[in-house]
Amino acid sequence: VDEARARLRDTFVAVRSRTLALIEPLEVEDLVVQSMPDASPARWHLAHTTWFFESFVLFPFAPGFSPFDPAFGLLFNSYYHALGERWRRPDRGLLSRPTVRRVLEYRRATDERVEALIADARDEDWPRLAERITLGLEHEEQHQELLLMDVKHLLGLNPLGPAYRPECTRPPRAAPPVQLAPLRWIEGPVGAVQIGAAGEAFAFDNEGPRHTTWLQPYALAHRLVSVGEYLAFVEDGGYRRPELWLSDGWATVEREGWEAPLYWRREQGRWSVFSLDGWGPLDATEPVAHVSYFEADAYARWAEARLPTEAEWEALAAGAPVRGNLLESGALHPRPASAEAGGLAQLFGDVWEHTRSAYSPYPGYRPPPGALGEYNGKFMSGQQVLRGGSALTPAAHVRASYRNFFHPHQRWAMQGLRLARDA
Ligand SMILES: [Fe+2]
Repeated sequence: VDEARARLRDTFVAVRSRTLALIEPLEVEDLVVQSMPDASPARWHLAHTTWFFESFVLFPFAPGFSPFDPAFGLLFNSYYHALGERWRRPDRGLLSRPTVRRVLEYRRATDERVEALIADARDEDWPRLAERITLGLEHEEQHQELLLMDVKHLLGLNPLGPAYRPECTRPPRAAPPVQLAPLRWIEGPVGAVQIGAAGEAFAFDNEGPRHTTWLQPYALAHRLVSVGEYLAFVEDGGYRRPELWLSDGWATVEREGWEAPLYWRREQGRWSVFSLDGWGPLDATEPVAHVSYFEADAYARWAEARLPTEAEWEALAAGAPVRGNLLESGALHPRPASAEAGGLAQLFGDVWEHTRSAYSPYPGYRPPPGALGEYNGKFMSGQQVLRGGSALTPAAHVRASYRNFFHPHQRWAMQGLRLARDA
């Protein structure tokens, strides 16, 4: 148990510190502005992840717990009705207080209390406590990606086009391949297959129960759809041809005036793209990113293919090592597929891959009791599943059974696509 406590304490310190490292390049003004109702100020992410540890770790497990500031529950509870009133999400950017300084104090004080609890908890409480702290850390990692998505959106709409980090802190970039390998099709297992999380390792409730599903013959493209391929769709009038779009998708194109993925801009006939390193020219060999489900679906129809189902994706990803361009690479942007022979490339990292599967409960799914039942289960309507993680996802956070989900019109997450077809 002592060894397990030391290990969890180290992971706790590492994950909590990484959140702070992510805001290191930013100025205080960057931390408090909210760029749209779907996004939150970075300060809110810093505080909300801390509130999560107070509410789900300290409150139930620390004897005599009292909150750091009783008013913070209202401000930093995201969506847990069971835990009381909440400040409206679209209004998170209206508040100048608590200051960033105060929120950082809140983090420090809470970290100390959680670390003390890891050391002092009774042995009989340990398994349940460890499970809760692990959930808090997985939650924090989700918010690390959200924080970067939201910061990117905030900087991207600024006419100054500010970069998130100075040039000297960016990892070196390999020269892009002159040309990508043409798509190869890789067939997946057919018939009865098992999907879903199984075993000892952490998984969210929505990844289970593991169950049997049936797959018709299919194949997945060996790599992601590239910017160059997507540009051909744009230049072929993809955004002006309603026959390529789902009805809700076409309505969104018309309403929003979409002509290209989010963060693409055309000036004097030349396309550029915004990344966390600022504006730069489009690189045809990179995977396309920041396309909604509607756009991914329309592209797939134009390309005479389709999107994979989540079961098709998982059946081919299960057993593959979680390697790729994830947060730790420091790229913070998708990278071209390497020319390696055989197998599926870019399964993990680069971009979350759209699937045609609606986010719905697996057979036998029951949300956990209490407020934590609100974590995932109540969002199982009107959203689509995405798989595989992105260049903003911590490597330890993703796995083959991981189900991310967004509304079909949303595209500020680092989402892209891999084609599928019936075999
Ligand atoms: Fe959250």
